[in-house]
Amino acid sequence: MAQLWGGRFTKETDQLVYNFNASIGFDQKFYEQDIKGSTAHVKMLAKQGILTVAERDEIIGGLEGILKDVKEGRLPVTSEYEDIHSFVEANLIDRIGDAGKKLHTGRSRNDQVALDMKLYVRDEICELKALVVKMLATLNQIMSENLETYMPGFTHLQKAQPITLAHHMGAYFEMFRRDYERLCDIYKRMNYCPLGSGALAGTTYPLDRDYTAQLLGFAGPTRNSMDSVSDRDYVIELLSALSTVMMHLSRFSEEIIIWNSNEYGFVEIDDAYSTGSSIMPQKKNPDIAELVRGKTGRVYAALTSILTTMKGIPLAYNKDMQEDKELTFDAIDTAKGCLALFEGMLATMEFKKDVMEKSAQKGFTNATDAADYLVGRGVPFRDAHGIVGQLVLFCIEHRISLDEMKLADYKKISPVFEEDIYDAISLKTCVEKRMTLGAPGPDAMEQVVEANRAFLDDISC
Ligand code: ARG
Repeated sequence: MAQLWGGRFTKETDQLVYNFNASIGFDQKFYEQDIKGSTAHVKMLAKQGILTVAERDEIIGGLEGILKDVKEGRLPVTSEYEDIHSFVEANLIDRIGDAGKKLHTGRSRNDQVALDMKLYVRDEICELKALVVKMLATLNQIMSENLETYMPGFTHLQKAQPITLAHHMGAYFEMFRRDYERLCDIYKRMNYCPLGSGALAGTTYPLDRDYTAQLLGFAGPTRNSMDSVSDRDYVIELLSALSTVMMHLSRFSEEIIIWNSNEYGFVEIDDAYSTGSSIMPQKKNPDIAELVRGKTGRVYAALTSILTTMKGIPLAYNKDMQEDKELTFDAIDTAKGCLALFEGMLATMEFKKDVMEKSAQKGFTNATDAADYLVGRGVPFRDAHGIVGQLVLFCIEHRISLDEMKLADYKKISPVFEEDIYDAISLKTCVEKRMTLGAPGPDAMEQVVEANRAFLDDISC
């Protein structure tokens, strides 16, 4: 047990208490962030004359050595230290002696851990953004190739109106674009440096908090030291954004699972992204989509957990907050893994265009268009709706589609119908006529694809 705070204690900590209290098992994940934060802190202390330049250089040299040794596996992070902060400080003192003991001047582990977590989350947001952008690029590529791939659009999982694959993928593009923007917003809001807040009430040293913030790439220092050491809003915001990412991925997974079923057969998942059965040789299962759908619960759980942890914590730091880490790490890793795998599955998936088109021709997806045809010839919409209802009933009884119904039969139900009804209810017409922005008409969709391309070209992660 190597502790930073033994001075006022006369007894050793009970081993079980030590184990329960320690966070090294998981906060070792941010050894790099911890060293980066310490390096900036030391530079600031020297600039303010609190440390000498020689002390600064000695400490920075020591920290660089620790970073290199941990990275290259020469210095294992072991559980004899309570947390990553103690580990780095103890190792520094071992290496450089007394100068190392000055590292923690004007700092508390409370503002230190607040900084480490922020640096970690900030780095991860950048990686998450890059993965979402990759997903967006793949979606837009599929969209650009399928402006005229007809398929049924569904409501209540029942065929509703014809759309295109581009249009369907475009819906997901919008969802992931909002996810991307949410990540950008969180980054902007959280990007203030807590270092210099001390335990809760700042410090008595003449710290230059602007300088530290600038060295670490923050927009500036935070403005209230009590809030700074006990704010985990940004973790909650991130987990909420990731829950939404997962909700989108899970809905998409559900669709892929349905589309991949024998009954639908809209897609063929690449062999590299599906698995077989140990007993049924014919099986090719959409396990990736199912796992993504399943893992969504873990990310929601992390959000619920941190919300619950934070709700009863009086100001300022309390040890409960140590619980912010493990689930956040897991949620981030889960979301990253799911985004990467789903994108890979999507990019390699084969869309069965003929099956989709055939499916769109069934199920009376053009019934609304038949009603619109009547409206175009002066029939009020409510009456047109009733007439087409009768057409559909006729077709169901005769097991045919509206396209297969004879003109004479049309005329029996309404004399308004003419030969041009067939063209008016063809899939091509149904889709092409939906040309307002946001609708599946190929011209409207092409504009969206172009705008998406410009959006993606503009992004700098
Ligand atoms: N391991 C602690 C955490 O994750 C670090 C801060 C410790 N501060 C304290 N006052 N015990 O929150």
